[in-house]
Amino acid sequence: MSSQRRLNPGTVEPKGRPVGGTEYNWWRAVPGGTGIAVLALLLSKAPDISGLQNAIHKLQDFHPILKSRLIRAHSNTVSFITSPAPFVQIKSVTLSSTSTILECAHSPENHSNISPFHLVLEHELNQNSWYSNTVTADMFFATIYALPNTKWVVVLRLHVSACDRTTAASLLRELPALMSEGEGEREGGETQKEMGNQGEVMSLGIEDLIPRGKAKKPLWARGVDMLSYSVSSLSLTNLKFQDPRSPRSSQVVRLQMNQSETHRILAGCKSRGIKLCGVLVAAGLIAADSSKRRSDNQGKKYGVATLIDCRSILDPPLSSHHFGFYHSAILNTHLIKGGEKLWELAQKIYVAFANSKNSNKHFSDMADLNFLMCKAIENPGLTASSSSRTSFMSVFEDPVVDDQSATHDMQQDRLGLEDNMGCASVHGIGPSIAIFDTIRDGRLDCVCVYPAPLHSREQMQELVDTMKAVLVDGGN
Ligand SMILES: *[C@@H]1O[C@H](CO)[C@@H](O)[C@H](O)[C@H]1NC(C)=O
Ligand SMILES: *[C@@H]1O[C@H](CO)[C@@H](O)[C@H](O)[C@H]1NC(C)=O
Repeated sequence: MSSQRRLNPGTVEPKGRPVGGTEYNWWRAVPGGTGIAVLALLLSKAPDISGLQNAIHKLQDFHPILKSRLIRAHSNTVSFITSPAPFVQIKSVTLSSTSTILECAHSPENHSNISPFHLVLEHELNQNSWYSNTVTADMFFATIYALPNTKWVVVLRLHVSACDRTTAASLLRELPALMSEGEGEREGGETQKEMGNQGEVMSLGIEDLIPRGKAKKPLWARGVDMLSYSVSSLSLTNLKFQDPRSPRSSQVVRLQMNQSETHRILAGCKSRGIKLCGVLVAAGLIAADSSKRRSDNQGKKYGVATLIDCRSILDPPLSSHHFGFYHSAILNTHLIKGGEKLWELAQKIYVAFANSKNSNKHFSDMADLNFLMCKAIENPGLTASSSSRTSFMSVFEDPVVDDQSATHDMQQDRLGLEDNMGCASVHGIGPSIAIFDTIRDGRLDCVCVYPAPLHSREQMQELVDTMKAVLVDGGN
């Protein structure tokens, strides 16, 4: 415990602000199990717990949204209220408790060739601290698991309204840096910096930062007919549902490619002027369609959500160190007839997305999509088999690029950092497969999250294996 040397808590009044529309939607989605963000670091050296505790408190001071709680008032309005002092306390899970968790995950119906690291990540994705929508909810939890073979996993779990993927990527960069900074840190300069950032949480939600004239009236202003039309447009082609009835949890399949495979895919994108998301979606649709296609040759329509980090196009623009949720989605539908070629399809998909973005759909449709998501949360029966699936797949417009070989080497030495994974749960409302892609030192690493047992591990492993084969084949 080294939390005794904090700022005097009496000096700053708690501050806060009401949540915005998108943040409110996450508040609604998380009780059902969608929007639990998890960042996991695999370490081969015993972590210095007090150093980690310090680093987390520094992060909280530096980014006040991380030391905020979600508070629901009598009027049912929800606000972020910032605590003056950082409060996250690391929980330690002993080797024997971790073993119990791993044994449970290894029951016969589960595959046993999944690494303990991967299983700990899945376990955390299903720790829902928010299922009851209590009046006050913390948004940030930290846990260290001792693994067999003298390894450790450090896990940060956050509410997505405070942590989109850009925030997660910045956290994953800042935390190991703060940890390896060591004990010799100077308090004075840090404090100044922290105080200078105190106002961050007071800044606005994404809706209030949309450039003038780019949003339009929300759906409810345009009548109920529009609503039933839009909700029925959610029932597009789905992957086969294996078990739509049992309670759901999130599971993960990983898609990894080596440097030369990744290089060929990226070169293919570059030469065609498209982004990686286009070819990932194309491979996903080809893989999904090959599993569905029988004798009929009818076209099938699939829904794909592409998430855009809006920070740089907001007014005023925000940097990637501005923590919170500043993504918006574009929902496109794609008709697949069978026999599509990877790159032709990728180009078509990317052009459809780019056209939607050019016409500002990520701003103009934001309120509509939030409203529909809320309606579907309230009425799962509006979705096929009450599956709560709103699209086949979700991707990000841009991958996280993690290319700090120099700092990596240093962190690898000092912390024994061997691997990391980050993603968010989707078993409430969401796609059948959510892709969280990172290019780490030139290698593509996708964490693919899906709801189980709505979809089975076998089914999703097969889907992702096919996607990879399609991508490797297309790269050659
Ligand atoms: C299978 O593993 C997951 C975690 O990977 C766990 O949540 C689930 O309970 C396991 N299934 C059984 C039947 O133990
Ligand atoms: C990448 O993987 C392929 C198999 O898909 C293999 O043939 C190739 O040698 C590997 N390249 C590198 C650089 O590891």
